[in-house]
Amino acid sequence: MPSSKSIPKGLQTVNLAGRDFISDLDFSIAETEAVLDMAARLKQEYRSGIPHPILRDKTLAMLFFFTSTRTRGSFEAGMAQLGGHGAFIDSETTQISHGDTAKEIGRIFGSYFNGIAIRQCDWNFGNQYINEVAEHSPVPVLNMQCDVYHPFQILADLLTIREFKGKSLKRKKIAVSWAYAASYQKPISVPQSLIIQMARFGMDVVLAHPPEYKLMPSILQKAAEGAAASGGSFRVTHDMDDAFADADVVYPKSWGCMLTTSDLKESAEIGRKYTGWICDERRMGLAKKDAIYMHCLPADRGLEVADAVIDGPQSVVYDEAENRLHVQKAVMAMTMGPKPQAARKTAAKKVAAKKTARKTAR
Ligand code: CP
Repeated sequence: MPSSKSIPKGLQTVNLAGRDFISDLDFSIAETEAVLDMAARLKQEYRSGIPHPILRDKTLAMLFFFTSTRTRGSFEAGMAQLGGHGAFIDSETTQISHGDTAKEIGRIFGSYFNGIAIRQCDWNFGNQYINEVAEHSPVPVLNMQCDVYHPFQILADLLTIREFKGKSLKRKKIAVSWAYAASYQKPISVPQSLIIQMARFGMDVVLAHPPEYKLMPSILQKAAEGAAASGGSFRVTHDMDDAFADADVVYPKSWGCMLTTSDLKESAEIGRKYTGWICDERRMGLAKKDAIYMHCLPADRGLEVADAVIDGPQSVVYDEAENRLHVQKAVMAMTMGPKPQAARKTAAKKVAAKKTARKTAR
C-alpha cells in the first residue's frame, strides 16, 4: 500500500512549519485554501486505508480547561493517524492552579512536545492565556477554542460547505443566527470565527441575534473589512426570518449574553424572552430548497433546533463533526511536520546567497 510521508508537491509553495494557529486570520486565504486541500487529500487517503505517517514520533500536548467531545476525540485520533501521539492533559490534574504560569507551560511543554494545543474559554482570559503560552513556546501553539475564536471548527465548516456547495463560496448566503438554549451559556467564539472567516471567503454573511446578544465590536469590524476585500457582504439583523430568507447555508446556534455573563440568572431571564428563536421546519422553508443546516454541536434539541431539522435531509452536522478530524490533521501536519521541499530549497538558496555575500565581502 502506498504511504505518503510528506506534504504533497502541490501544496509545497505554502510553508506553515512552526506557525501558531490561534485566530482564524493567522493563516492567509491562500494558506487556508492549502490547508483545506491538504485536509481533503488526507480524508480521501484515510477513507481508502492509505497511511500517512507525516508526524511519526511527534507528540502534541492537548491541554483542556473545559470539557469536550469532538475536539478531544478528533485531535487524539488525528495525531495517532499521523503516526504520532496526542497526550490528553486535564488542567485540573496539573499544577496550574498551584502556580504554573503560561510562560512556564510554553517553555516546559515546548521542551517535551512538538506542539501545544489548548482549550481555554474563560471570558476575557482564554485568548490572552493561549497567546502568552505561544509567546514563550518554541513549538506551534494551536487554539482548540478560546473566549474569542474557535478556528478549527470553522476550518471544518469551510471544508463542509465546499463539499456541499462547491469550492467557490463567493456570494453564497450564510445565516449565522443566535438560537435559544437552556443548557448553559455557550461561548461566542463560534459565531465570531464564522463571521470573520466566511466574510473573508466572499460569502454574503448575515448575522442575526436579539439586541442583547451582541458580538465583540472588533470582530464585527473584521467581518466588515473581510467582506469589503473579498467582494462578499456582511450585515446584522435582529430578525431570524430575515437572515434565513433565501440562504444557502443556515448556522443557528445559541451563545451567551456578553453584557450579563457575570449574572447567569439575569442572562437566563433575558434568554427566555426569545424562546421563539428556534430552527424548525417553517424556518428551513425560508432558505433555499437545497440549503444546508449546520451546527458545531452539542445542540439543545427541541430548543435551538427541531429534531426534524437536525435529523433531516438538509442537516450536515455529522459531516461537520467528521471534518474536524481532517482539517486538524492537515494543520498539525503542516505546522508540526517537516518544511515542504520548496521551502527547504528557498531556505537553502538563502543560506547559499549569504555565504556568497560573505565571501565577496572578504
Ligand atoms: N464543536 C466542538 O468544539 O465540540 P466539543 O466541545 O465537543 O469539542
